[in-house]
Amino acid sequence: MKLVIPKERDPLERRMAGSPDAVKRLRDLGFEVIVEAGAGAGAGFPDAALREAGATLTGDIAEALGAADVVLRVRGPAMDDDGWEFRRMRPGAVLIGFLAPWQAHERISAYAEHGLAAFTMEFMPRITRAQGMDALSSQANLGGYAAVIEGARIFGRAFPMMVTAAGTIAPARVLILGAGVAGLQAIATARRLGAIVSAMDVRPAAREQVESLGATFVEVDSDEKHQAETTAGYAREMSANYRQRQAGKLHEHLKRIDVVVTTALIPGRPAPVLVTAEMVADMKPGSVIIDMAAEQGGNCELSEGGRTVVKHGVTIVGDANLPGHVAADASALYARNLVNFLTLMVDTEHRLLEPDRDDEILKATLVCRDGRIVNPVLAQKEAS
Ligand code: NAI
Repeated sequence: MKLVIPKERDPLERRMAGSPDAVKRLRDLGFEVIVEAGAGAGAGFPDAALREAGATLTGDIAEALGAADVVLRVRGPAMDDDGWEFRRMRPGAVLIGFLAPWQAHERISAYAEHGLAAFTMEFMPRITRAQGMDALSSQANLGGYAAVIEGARIFGRAFPMMVTAAGTIAPARVLILGAGVAGLQAIATARRLGAIVSAMDVRPAAREQVESLGATFVEVDSDEKHQAETTAGYAREMSANYRQRQAGKLHEHLKRIDVVVTTALIPGRPAPVLVTAEMVADMKPGSVIIDMAAEQGGNCELSEGGRTVVKHGVTIVGDANLPGHVAADASALYARNLVNFLTLMVDTEHRLLEPDRDDEILKATLVCRDGRIVNPVLAQKEAS
């Protein structure tokens, strides 16, 4: 079984879909591991470390892809030159990564037409058995941490209260919008740095988690909150009435805030716009907004995906790759998620790829196979 890890081709992506530790584990599973030279450079894994772990380094990725049974990526393959990268793969080969199934439907159709078996990490079910494969969580966790560090770096003042002979420094006030995996880690990080932290979420279950981390929960007074959570634990899109109440509350609260980290997402939908231009205009000059949802359209009306802009004296960061700020850790955790996921597909005794078509984790994450989009969620979207 040949497994190939190409370099990420997005120049802003520093992570790698592998690590020296993962190479060893993949070899134990029976894979021959071929890594494109330089693939680990952004994550601090030199070629020599990957080679020492048992990988074969190659400078000819096109040839390696042509022989691959499995290709591991962080993001989907490069799409320049008519998608040369995935077109080098053999029909029937397995592609695994964050394939952006909601945003990149045309690409998924192209993978399907090419005959790939593509699995996307965004669709990992949030069930106990899949916890070790939950790359959304491993990356969101580090992203939440990195967002606060980035906010603290840009904010021209200190986070903790400091009483000094030269005067007292007031603690920073940090607001986290969306208290899921990224948001909770952001709260914990901002608290550790000494900030006064508050948070908002539509799911009432978030209150207890927010408070247990020492932050204040900013509540929207509405009965609708009881229907805010899906059975899968995700948020629903809220009604216009709820959104209006939430906006009123948020607008007032933001006037006192120094750093905002927004993480609010609704699967399959554009990110909800929570911070409007009007709210930004009323924030204190020098404040910072880190919009972690920028890639999904943004939680702030004024954020620009992939860019940092200053509007009304407020710095708004639309960095799409916060986990990449801690690329070594993010890659190591992601690679472990991938190894755990691959164990579901491998018959270690016979060293064969043998995905069980009835396994609920594989069924949930498989987007296309045998020339068709097979994921029920995506197929339904395609039909509608
Ligand atoms: P996510 O990334 O989809 O969304 C982030 C947060 O934004 C969520 O807490 C969501 O409620 C919130 N949000 C959405 N719309 C909002 C709005 N209009 N205003 C304010 N907040 C809004 O969610 P994530 O982080 O992936 O977590 C989803 C759920 O899954 C959570 O309940 C989490 O605790 C749970 N989970 C369960 C796991 C398991 O293995 N059982 C593993 C990881 C997460």
